Amino acid sequence: MRLWKLSYISTAVATPDEALRQLREICARSGERNARIGISSVATVHRGRFAQVLEGPESAVRALLKRIMGDPRHHSIMVLADGPIVARRYADWAMAYRDPKAFLSDQLDDILQQTADVVRAMKATWH
Ligand SMILES: Cc1cc2nc3c(=O)[nH]c(=O)nc-3n(C[C@H](O)[C@H](O)[C@H](O)COP(=O)(O)O)c2cc1C
Repeated sequence: MRLWKLSYISTAVATPDEALRQLREICARSGERNARIGISSVATVHRGRFAQVLEGPESAVRALLKRIMGDPRHHSIMVLADGPIVARRYADWAMAYRDPKAFLSDQLDDILQQTADVVRAMKATWH
């Protein structure tokens, strides 16, 4: 059972204010369900776009994404990251709302870490 991370952005159907209200409601409702299927997650909404990170067993992540994709509250889902991870970043959060700045800061941390890992691996092959 591989531990997986998938992140996406999508476009909200509702106005920005209403989309924020919807996301807060989704977070409040989904925590228990996500925990039951081994999913940890954070989500945000910024200027009418949702963004979410899903972590968990690959099969659970894929099944949940399929359900989320069918949700009429958003459209134009674009997957940004889809791959195995060694550890969860959001182990303590089954479904947490993050403000856009905190969400982006975490994602930037991950990208910088991945870049550093790639550079380190490349350097190791040069010697
Ligand atoms: C941006 C967004 C993120 C969502 N994230 C989750 C989630 O992490 N877990 C979840 O169970 N449902 C999530 N939902 C809600 C699902 O799409 C769905 O409405 C909910 O799981 C209830 O499904 P059901 O009507 O088949 O019971 C999300 C919806 C949106 C629009």
